[in-house]
Amino acid sequence: MHLLLGKQVIGHGWNSMWAYEKRLQYPINIKKKDLRMAKLLVTQYGGSNGELAAALRYLNQRYTMPDDKGRALLTDIGTEELAHVEMIQTMIAQLMQNATIDEIKAAGLDSHYAEHKNALYPTDANGVPFTVSYFATTGDPISDLTEDIAAEQKARAVYENLINLTDDPDILGPLLWLRQREVVHFNRFSELLEEYRKKGY
Ligand SMILES: [Fe+2]
Repeated sequence: MHLLLGKQVIGHGWNSMWAYEKRLQYPINIKKKDLRMAKLLVTQYGGSNGELAAALRYLNQRYTMPDDKGRALLTDIGTEELAHVEMIQTMIAQLMQNATIDEIKAAGLDSHYAEHKNALYPTDANGVPFTVSYFATTGDPISDLTEDIAAEQKARAVYENLINLTDDPDILGPLLWLRQREVVHFNRFSELLEEYRKKGY
C-alpha cells in the first residue's frame, strides 16, 4: 500500500508490470533506401484501411461483444493490429533512413518534411492525416463484425496494391506476411459472425 497526498493506492502497487515483447511480430530488415515506397506504405499506417484504424476499431468494439469469446477475439486481433502498426512504422523509418533533402524533395516528401522533418505521422498515401471517422462502433455485434470483415478485405486489397508497386524482397516479405494475416483475421471474424447469427444476436 502506498500513500500519495493522503490518497491510497488500492490493489496493485507502483511495481505493476507492463509486458512488451521487444521484437517485431515479423522481422523487418530493409537495406535499400526507397522514399517512394515510404510515401506509399504510410497508408497502411494512417490510411482508411490501415493498421491504426484496424487496431482502434477492434479495441473500441470489443467491450460490446455479447460474450467472452467475442471480446477475446476482438482483443486478440486488435492488439495484433498494434503490432502491425509497429511493423509498418519500422518499414517507413528504414526506407527513409539517411535521406538527403534533395532525395526528400525528389520523392515529393518535402511537405511532410516541412511539417514533421524525419518523424513519422499517420497519413494515407496522399498525405491526408488519420481521422477516427475511418472506423465505426455501433454497439451492435452483427453490424460491427460485418464492418470488420469488410475492413480486413480492404486491408488485404491495399497490401496487394503495395505489393504490385515494389520488387524489393525486403519489402515484399513483410507485406506478403501482413496480407496473409488479414486473410486469417477475415476468416476468424467470419466464423464469429456466423456463430452470432445462429445464436440470434
Ligand atoms: Fe487485420
